[in-house]
Amino acid sequence: MGNLYLIGFMGAGKSTVARELGRVMGVPVVEMDKRIEAEQGMPITDIFEKYGEEHFRDLETELLKTLAGEGSCVVSCGGGSVLRDENAAIMKGSGRIVLLEASPETIYERVKDSKDRPILNGHMNVEYISGLMEKRRGRYESVADVRVSTDSKRVSQIAREIRRSV
Ligand code: S3P
Repeated sequence: MGNLYLIGFMGAGKSTVARELGRVMGVPVVEMDKRIEAEQGMPITDIFEKYGEEHFRDLETELLKTLAGEGSCVVSCGGGSVLRDENAAIMKGSGRIVLLEASPETIYERVKDSKDRPILNGHMNVEYISGLMEKRRGRYESVADVRVSTDSKRVSQIAREIRRSV
């Protein structure tokens, strides 16, 4: 089987849902951010600070190429990884893409105490989240094979909806 790529905004629930899907489907889960941190030996915030966002995006592309060659994984994608055309094409060509959606208010509640997301550092408020989400919405929706809302749903229910529709 190809990979199952979970995409969506930061805090949409990709990591949690990926873990649940991995468990019920009995397949490995790859958390892109965690894998990049392990390979680079530093947190994402340090990668952004030391080498810049573009370098981080290059690392995402490299990792996606590797994962496309492996297959049979649930991949929790970094929220910005699908913005690059090349990355979206790699995902499209090697599996199914599921978009997890949530309202800006829900996202804010989930991420507000996190210091690990350089994109939101210094802009941790609903207005900024909502604006960035609007900018990304077209891309997220156009690459997704399936869209699932996560607002006020249990993880098990979200995983069931995804399994039914992919
Ligand atoms: C990013 C999302 C983060 C991480 C990095 C950039 C983004 O991943 O890759 O901070 O641009 O949306 P999560 O979506 O897992 O938080």
